[in-house]
Amino acid sequence: MFITLEGPEGSGKTSQIPPLVDFLRLQGIDLLATREPGGTAIGDQVRSILMNLENQAMHPRTEILLFCAARAQIVEQVIRPALQQGRTVLCDRYADSTLAYQGYGHGLDRVFLRELLDFTTGGLWPDFTILMDVDVEVGLQRKQKCQGEWNRLDAYAMAFHQRVRQGYLEMARQQPERWIVIDASQPQEAVQQTLRAAILARLAAEAK
Ligand code: TYD
Repeated sequence: MFITLEGPEGSGKTSQIPPLVDFLRLQGIDLLATREPGGTAIGDQVRSILMNLENQAMHPRTEILLFCAARAQIVEQVIRPALQQGRTVLCDRYADSTLAYQGYGHGLDRVFLRELLDFTTGGLWPDFTILMDVDVEVGLQRKQKCQGEWNRLDAYAMAFHQRVRQGYLEMARQQPERWIVIDASQPQEAVQQTLRAAILARLAAEAK
């Protein structure tokens, strides 16, 4: 099964994923955990171009193609082979991030983006997507204060991040069979428990 975690800035994915992965492996799940952009040697090089604060001149179309370049690589090199071996894959961000950030955030044509994403992924979409939803101001404050990592994409205007959040919520509403939305503003431990329960429930349902 292919599971993705999505969310706006500061939704807490980075701190939640390591204990989540440890827990799932302890349950005996053969789990491959990876992240986007990156996750391969080629993808990590593309990631550093995308995140570099010096690249202020980057056009949204350039940005999309770089995200897609990294994604095409991770799909064929890592994700698809693992799924073919029957493993469970957990990916921190995936194609829905492009729809949320470049589509809803930058206002690029989402019909076209979906086609581009089908091309990029060879048609591989997640079976299950968890949206870690958080208020934009809370999320950005968290990110600035706690993690200290402030990249080029975080620096976009607040209105951009509001559109990203609303876009995620809309996508979740449109495909309720694939998405669940969890409240990531809860205390960290509560979010962790919710994530664990959601994934175990979905894996159990798939196994039936
Ligand atoms: P990262 O440091 O991994 O942030 P986070 O912990 O929030 O996942 O940076 C990823 C950034 O890239 C984040 O701002 C979302 C953005 N992004 C896109 O704009 N489009 C995409 O397709 C992907 C995968 C990420």
